[in-house]
Amino acid sequence: MTEYKLLELPYEYDALTPHISEQVMKWHHDVHNQGYVDGANNAEEKLRRQRENNDFSSTGSILNSFTHNFCGNFLHQIFWNNMSPEGGGEPEGELMQKIEKDFGSYGNWKKEFKAAASSASGWALLVYIPRENELHNVAVDQHDEGAVWGAHPVLAVDVWEHSYYHDYGPDRGDFVDNIFELINWSDVQNRYNEVSGTFS
Ligand SMILES: [Fe+2]
Repeated sequence: MTEYKLLELPYEYDALTPHISEQVMKWHHDVHNQGYVDGANNAEEKLRRQRENNDFSSTGSILNSFTHNFCGNFLHQIFWNNMSPEGGGEPEGELMQKIEKDFGSYGNWKKEFKAAASSASGWALLVYIPRENELHNVAVDQHDEGAVWGAHPVLAVDVWEHSYYHDYGPDRGDFVDNIFELINWSDVQNRYNEVSGTFS
């Protein structure tokens, strides 16, 4: 049985100020992300007990909890690493060429991604779909509603209220603009390289 662990942030809690406050990073990582780790472990344990007891009466709700918490932890791990105190700017090289090919231009991609971030009740994602050899934006509610099968997130922006409300109030657009000052494009490029190699 897999045991999920809370991964360390790749920087200090206050490293992303003034765009994201130390307080928000502490709550977001130590409370919310930890909650998804605990939730995924709890679900695994309950599934194990059900198998042991040959009692599958609660399987549906446990699996729903597993998906919610596993996906929450998975996306937060990408989100933390997609940001850096030295972030910002624009993608380069192969990733930029692929964005321009699949979206027409970087500007088009950015406008569409920001629209996804504005409408989603969860996450805005840039994903790579190997079977189509295509980058695509996705708007996800919660951590999984609206997910695309077979797609790999390379950029994840958390637009749950716990991500920005303490710092920005209801102005989610200002928060998303500030996230663009933090995007670690070399991490996004590495993720794209990793999954685009699976295209055949
Ligand atoms: Fe979050």
